[in-house]
Amino acid sequence: MKDLMKRLTEAYGPSGDEEQIRDLIRAEVESLADELRVDTLGNLIAAKKGQGGGKRVMLAAHMDEIGLIISYVDEKGFLRAQPIGGLDLTTLAGGRIVFSDGAVGVIAPENREDFRKEPELSKLYIDVGATSYDEAKGRLGQPAGFLRPFVDLGKRVVAKAFDDRIGCVVLIETLRRLQDTPHEVYFVFSVQEEVGLRGARTGAYGVDPEIGIAVDITASGDTPEARKMAMKLGAGPCIKVRDSGMLAHPGVKDLLIETAEAREIPYQLEVLAAGSTDAAAIQLSRSGVPAGCVSVACRYYHTPSEMVDVDDVENTVRLLVALLEEPIEL
Ligand code: CO
Ligand code: ZN
Repeated sequence: MKDLMKRLTEAYGPSGDEEQIRDLIRAEVESLADELRVDTLGNLIAAKKGQGGGKRVMLAAHMDEIGLIISYVDEKGFLRAQPIGGLDLTTLAGGRIVFSDGAVGVIAPENREDFRKEPELSKLYIDVGATSYDEAKGRLGQPAGFLRPFVDLGKRVVAKAFDDRIGCVVLIETLRRLQDTPHEVYFVFSVQEEVGLRGARTGAYGVDPEIGIAVDITASGDTPEARKMAMKLGAGPCIKVRDSGMLAHPGVKDLLIETAEAREIPYQLEVLAAGSTDAAAIQLSRSGVPAGCVSVACRYYHTPSEMVDVDDVENTVRLLVALLEEPIEL
């Protein structure tokens, strides 16, 4: 799975510009799915039709990542940007961005001291190596992602965009391992999550599921001086109870807990103070959908060095495969 993690996290795909990452995922799932389609917003939807008698289940993981969009080019060819998603500004200076064509830019503060005191995106510019306005002007309006390689630390792995390429890895691996299921399972690789759960909204309307589960990352409280939070790396998939956008459907939450206990899969409960997932959009689709979420605990989320535990990823796959093999009664 680490090879897949590397390829997916290193791929380019800020919100609204998911074509490259979608092509990568499509190549992975094409031969595994009974049906494949891309909807109007760009969600990739792979269906596995079971033997029948089950439920219509939607699993969602977002393909998009946070990034920047170029909003201004000055007379010397330096760029200014606006955010795509929630950026941690303190991690940007000295970092690099990459455009869809592979071109790279360096992020620099106008004045280091001032930026340190009061980090603001307006105090950062991007240097693409241009020597004139004309050389850089074509970048106006273009999105960019961050540039960082995947690093294998053994039990732990580090990459940009584990949020939520790790969810995409989990969905692909679940589809690969799922042999017999009574359910009609829709694996939705969604777009534009980081700018407001937009892809999941149209995706859920289109699939019209009887149960929806998002797979995403969540924060962890296991680092020095961290906010008091129960989730930690290596303790199993986090079964969401609530976050700032959703109270998980109790039936879905209990189903996940019961499945984990029956199969002796380690799990933890997730109560997240800030942030939400595609499950919040699925839950409010049409006249409402029973929705829940399984998260992989992640350190340093929304920075270019997000860290997850490999066993957590494996156990998240095991949990979803187990859940889909059995009949579902909420
Ligand atoms: Co995110
Ligand atoms: Zn996410």
